[in-house]
Amino acid sequence: MEIEKLYGYTDAMMAKVKDLVTRLRPEVLDEMGLPQAIRWYAEQALKRTGIKCKLHFTSARLKMDKEKATSLYRIFQEAFTNVMRHSGATRMDVFLTKRNGEVKLRVTDNGSGITDEDIGDMKSLGILGMRERAVSVGGSFAIGRNADSGSFVEVSLSA
Ligand SMILES: Nc1ncnc2c1ncn2[C@@H]1O[C@H](COP(=O)(O)OP(=O)(O)O)[C@@H](O)[C@H]1O
Ligand SMILES: [Mg+2]
Repeated sequence: MEIEKLYGYTDAMMAKVKDLVTRLRPEVLDEMGLPQAIRWYAEQALKRTGIKCKLHFTSARLKMDKEKATSLYRIFQEAFTNVMRHSGATRMDVFLTKRNGEVKLRVTDNGSGITDEDIGDMKSLGILGMRERAVSVGGSFAIGRNADSGSFVEVSLSA
């Protein structure tokens, strides 16, 4: 097969993958559930980077309201993208836990650490969007620097 043709196929496939994850309610989420969708996304996105990502899930399936699951998925994508783009981290951890009816998502990295200026900046639309999404489903949102190194994003909401 001609190499040009092969590139064409790869482009088409990447476009499909991109379309799948950026849709308002990606069907991967409905079909796989939130934990598997996060795993799938992380695997896709980390293929060409040197960042190690460890996933910590209390269960492989999580029964959740669709709107809440979508919000958490979107927040995860933004937090994850921020780690890849801005942190310079070598490692990140994603926690998705459910205890006593409370679902918690925590994305943490060992990078440079976010500054208070970035957090308070009205131009930080990614951060504002995450907060907005969390609040819109009755959740709470926190972002900051870890005590040792790097940053965290945390969302809690009732399942
Ligand atoms: N994990 C992170 N580590 C270090 N800095 C971060 C991290 N996440 C966000 N930031 C900083 O906060 C800023 C605002 O983030 P965001 O609102 O998502 O905007 P954007 O990603 O479009 O720059 C980023 O430009 C970056 O400087
Ligand atoms: Mg961002």
